[in-house]
Amino acid sequence: MAVEVEFGSAPVAEDLIKECLQRSEGYDLEGFLLGQGAIPAKIMLVGEAPGATEIVEGRPFTGQAGKVLEEYLNKLGLTRRDIYITSAVRSRPFKDKVVAGTAAGTVPRLSRSNRTPTKNEVLAHAAILDAEIEYVQPRVIVPMGNIGLHRLIGSHETISSLHGKVIEGPILRLEDPNDPRSGYVFGERSYSIFPLYHPAAVIYNRSLEQVIDRDLTALKDFLAVKNNF
Ligand code: URA
Repeated sequence: MAVEVEFGSAPVAEDLIKECLQRSEGYDLEGFLLGQGAIPAKIMLVGEAPGATEIVEGRPFTGQAGKVLEEYLNKLGLTRRDIYITSAVRSRPFKDKVVAGTAAGTVPRLSRSNRTPTKNEVLAHAAILDAEIEYVQPRVIVPMGNIGLHRLIGSHETISSLHGKVIEGPILRLEDPNDPRSGYVFGERSYSIFPLYHPAAVIYNRSLEQVIDRDLTALKDFLAVKNNF
């Protein structure tokens, strides 16, 4: 029997979201946005955290990194309707900086920018990612960048050593979904984990273009072989 596929956000329980937002109080995080895509999906992409554009648009990867992500998908022959896209943190981590006025008499103003989430912020949002994985039931998980990679397998390796390689095995989840102090444990289920550089990485380092191209070709080949899974 064909499985019915929906497009949208995983129906994460309101209580879990409320708890996660309460735990985020005191951190410089703003907005909240769930992942989006096919449910169920064989492939789940896990980024870092939404940025300013994503929070305004209410859709993951719609800013500058989103344009690069669209190129990733084109190269893989996939669309947003074929996969589920989420990230380790579901609010925008920001930092404020006082910018001096340039012209005489101009008042200094605050400038807000995106930043990398901290380990505590990732932990505060861990139950959300666990719930999304549970609903979406992916077989292949693609962490994009170190934040997603470390959330899923721990921080003993980096994206520069694991990008473009398949790791078969379990992933980390909160031991107690209602208590981040319980810490992470490896779950029972095994996944194919295929780390990629985060789409924003190439914006800052153009020399990664060829490496990423090779990784995407390897991922496409891997998915073709796994097609009947
Ligand atoms: N980076 C991410 O990891 N997620 C987004 O939604 C946007 C940028």
